[in-house]
Amino acid sequence: MADLVRRNHWVVRVTHWVNVVAIIVMAGSGMRIFNAHPAFARPGERFPLNPWEGHAIPKWLTFGAWLGGARHWHFAMMWILVLNGLAYLVFLFLHGEWRDVVPRKGDARDAIEMLRFYLFLRRDHPIQGKHNALQKSAYFAMPVLGVIIVLSGLAIWKPVTLGFITVLFVNYKWARVVHFVAMVLLIVLALIHVFMVFAVDPYALRSIITGWYNRANSPEARNARPFYHLVAPRRSSAESETDA
Ligand code: HEM
Ligand code: HEM
Repeated sequence: MADLVRRNHWVVRVTHWVNVVAIIVMAGSGMRIFNAHPAFARPGERFPLNPWEGHAIPKWLTFGAWLGGARHWHFAMMWILVLNGLAYLVFLFLHGEWRDVVPRKGDARDAIEMLRFYLFLRRDHPIQGKHNALQKSAYFAMPVLGVIIVLSGLAIWKPVTLGFITVLFVNYKWARVVHFVAMVLLIVLALIHVFMVFAVDPYALRSIITGWYNRANSPEARNARPFYHLVAPRRSSAESETDA
């Protein structure tokens, strides 16, 4: 079938799924570590920026048995996360695929057009490359957040030896806040990402597992909006003209 193409290289597929496991373990164990002292303020201090200061995160969201166990998981998994993340980024760079995720001039305008399309303010799906402009910005933001999480993590892991990293975040306390907030943003983006995969392009699942993708099923070809892909594929302009 002419529309069947190789879409995701095995390096992208393997690093994607290793990353999913690593991030789930890191976020779960991190939140269990947080629960040991669920506040950013030190004893005697106040931290009004967190309205839930002192409230623990629900236990079912956390992972790693007790504080010591969670720290073991966190500090073991961080090596896998970093090595895997580096493998992905080096591959994107060497293979030229960074062009599919790094924003370029015109992306802001294209992102607005995508939003207009999703809000039914525009009829036809905007022309896109591998990813649409909204997807691209999410896929770009994810590794950027990853780098911030790793740097702030190193800053609170070895605040003396790696003090030159800690000062990038002002001090230990603010490095903790950055580490936590960046995690929340990454998780929110990942949840939106998974929602959009199922709601707009479930056919892409095949491409992140086997690598193959049928272009005839792409959101652009189906004129697909969230939950709106079950309708018939976009009609050709010739058909529309006959109707008119
Ligand atoms: C190289 C990567 C990372 C390093 C070096 C690192 C390091 C650390 C350290 C040292 C702590 C404090 C542990 C303690 O005081 O006992 C911590 C806490 C935490 N980490 Fe990470 N981490 C990394 C990646 C991640 C990732 C990927 C996530 C989530 C996506 C994450 C989420 C958290 C959370 C939520 C906490 C608790 C925050 C707090 O109470 O300060 N970490 N991390
Ligand atoms: C921590 C969670 C996740 C993160 C950070 C993440 C990140 C990413 C990134 C950055 C890409 C783009 C890869 C590239 O083009 O180089 C991607 C693609 C993809 N992800 Fe995820 N992902 C996560 C979880 C998931 C989950 C749970 C699913 C499915 C249930 C999923 C399904 C997909 C699919 C289908 C693609 C391919 C999209 C396409 O080829 O257009 N992801 N993901």
